[in-house]
Amino acid sequence: MKILVVGANGQIGKQLVHMLHDHPNYEVKAMIRKQEQASYFQKAGIESVLANLDGTVSELADAARDCGAVVFTAGSGGGTGFDQTLLIDLDGAAKVIEAAELAGIQRFIMISALQAHRREHWSEQIKPYYAAKHHADQILRNSGLNYTIIRPGGLMNEDGTGKVAAAEDIRSGSIPREDVARTALLSLDEESTFRRSFDLVSGDTPIADALSALDAPLN
Ligand SMILES: NC(=O)c1ccc[n+]([C@@H]2O[C@H](COP(=O)([O-])OP(=O)(O)OC[C@H]3O[C@@H](n4cnc5c(N)ncnc54)[C@H](OP(=O)(O)O)[C@@H]3O)[C@@H](O)[C@H]2O)c1
Repeated sequence: MKILVVGANGQIGKQLVHMLHDHPNYEVKAMIRKQEQASYFQKAGIESVLANLDGTVSELADAARDCGAVVFTAGSGGGTGFDQTLLIDLDGAAKVIEAAELAGIQRFIMISALQAHRREHWSEQIKPYYAAKHHADQILRNSGLNYTIIRPGGLMNEDGTGKVAAAEDIRSGSIPREDVARTALLSLDEESTFRRSFDLVSGDTPIADALSALDAPLN
């Protein structure tokens, strides 16, 4: 199965692209938004496609066309205004969900944010970011797609430990980006993550075991 990674040039995205490329069961297509980003992937023998979350649903569907699943790990980042949060983190995600439906893709993994499902725990300083994440997740949940919504804690650039805590409600914590990428990879075919959302931080349980133990009621 070929996986479209949206946000492939990002810090989680790049690690996930390499994991997928190295995996015997998957092929990967890296969605990038600038032509100059293509050579990095070309040199590694990885297919890329140029598309922008500012674009139309039909352009995004064209980018996704021969894929069997989408992982959305894009984000406008802390350096832009909340207008971009609205347009990329919320509407960009909504457009990719529509595009997946248009392209006949069933499986969709969203990288959201810790506690995006609980308004009472949103940080005052970045409430619009949490609102964007919350509503993108809701749109995905209400779609016909087979979703997994991963809500990681504060992202770190240190090496992954391969061990996490994954549950419906984890109030705080952090996690290396490598472990988030591996959790997305291992979720793709793990049925216990199908139509499920969970918070994710560093912990004591190997990722595969933490995912297969996700037996809480659907949320
Ligand atoms: N920071 C945290 O502590 C934290 C915690 C929980 C969840 N998250 C979420 O985790 C996800 C991934 O984080 P990260 O650190 O890997 O992010 P990142 O390094 O900032 O990567 C985000 C990617 O999104 C791409 N992007 C932005 N606007 C785009 C557009 N208009 N069209 C296409 N692509 C676009 C960027 O492209 P360029 O490379 O071209 O700029 C970049 O590759 C994000 O959704 C973030 O909100 C973050």
